[in-house]
Amino acid sequence: RQIDWDASAASKEGFEYYMLKEIYETPEVVMDTLYGLKNDTNIDKIIDKINSSKRIIVVAAGTSYHAGLYFSLLLQRNGYTTIPVVASEYYNIKTGPDDSVIAISQSGETMDVIMAIRKFKENNSSIISLTNVIESAISRESDFKIYTRAGPEIGVAATKTFTTQIAALTFIWSKIVDKKINFESIGDVIRSSLDKSGEARRIGEELAQKENAYYLGRGISLPLAMEGSLKIKEIAYLHAEAYPAGESKHGPIALISNGFPVVFVNTGEFTEELQSNVQEMKARGALTYGISINSTLNTHKEILLKVSDENLAVFALSPIIQLIAYYAALARGNNPDRPRNLAKTVTVE
Ligand code: G6P
Repeated sequence: RQIDWDASAASKEGFEYYMLKEIYETPEVVMDTLYGLKNDTNIDKIIDKINSSKRIIVVAAGTSYHAGLYFSLLLQRNGYTTIPVVASEYYNIKTGPDDSVIAISQSGETMDVIMAIRKFKENNSSIISLTNVIESAISRESDFKIYTRAGPEIGVAATKTFTTQIAALTFIWSKIVDKKINFESIGDVIRSSLDKSGEARRIGEELAQKENAYYLGRGISLPLAMEGSLKIKEIAYLHAEAYPAGESKHGPIALISNGFPVVFVNTGEFTEELQSNVQEMKARGALTYGISINSTLNTHKEILLKVSDENLAVFALSPIIQLIAYYAALARGNNPDRPRNLAKTVTVE
């Protein structure tokens, strides 16, 4: 008797979709990425270059831009002048020879990023690339190359590659500012977050019933709120908008009425401020959700994650925002691996 052999199902290793499989690969590939960086003999040169630059321009598109924004905010707090740039808007900035450019691209082939670095090179800025593909177009055009080691990502929406970018950038940041971080524990932080997938599923299924949602955060939570809202737009086709939580009272709150969903993302550093934002939203009838590190936000529904070092909060939060989007997509009957209208790699301007 012949056994049906479905090659694509086999390579999903029992997971229903590549996206879920890839989210579950995150602990391993993040540790691989950190191992690679620790053993990369170019890192010291790159750190010196960044430390001697007048400004650090961070350029990327889509999910990679959110990783770049996260990195930019970390460095700004240490007094560095960073300018996060959405790649397709590169013409708004004039760089010079004292500037370093960090170009982040999973594929290393995104045309908007290529055009941006070509322009910055004309101005003699140094280009440092972070890509997931060895000798990609973007790495070939850069002066310094660093890599994530996420392996191939089949799901169109970036998941494990985002978290490896964040890991690489956190590593670089810790070197630049000479901060001690327990990188060894990151795999466990991600694994305990994956253990909460049932809770993420319930939130995703509730959001799937809605037409719109806000994702709010403060400080370094904001790029994660942005990534959460991008992910749920991409695969669940749910209109979601990310906003700085404090700024939400200057406009977005006008839309809040009974049952409007608002997802709060909290890395743990602005808990009290976020708690009062939650109250503002609740008072107007919002249905509030929290993804929160170490303390409760008093939202209607919450995923509370414990992390001993808040510098690692991002690693607990990232898989959760991805799982929420994944389960929202499933609840809406979408194939999360192949969102309509999107391409994994966009090689046109
Ligand atoms: C496309 C993909 C996104 C990705 C973006 C940037 O829009 O659909 O998932 O984040 O490109 O891709 P890159 O390969 O440069 O990181």
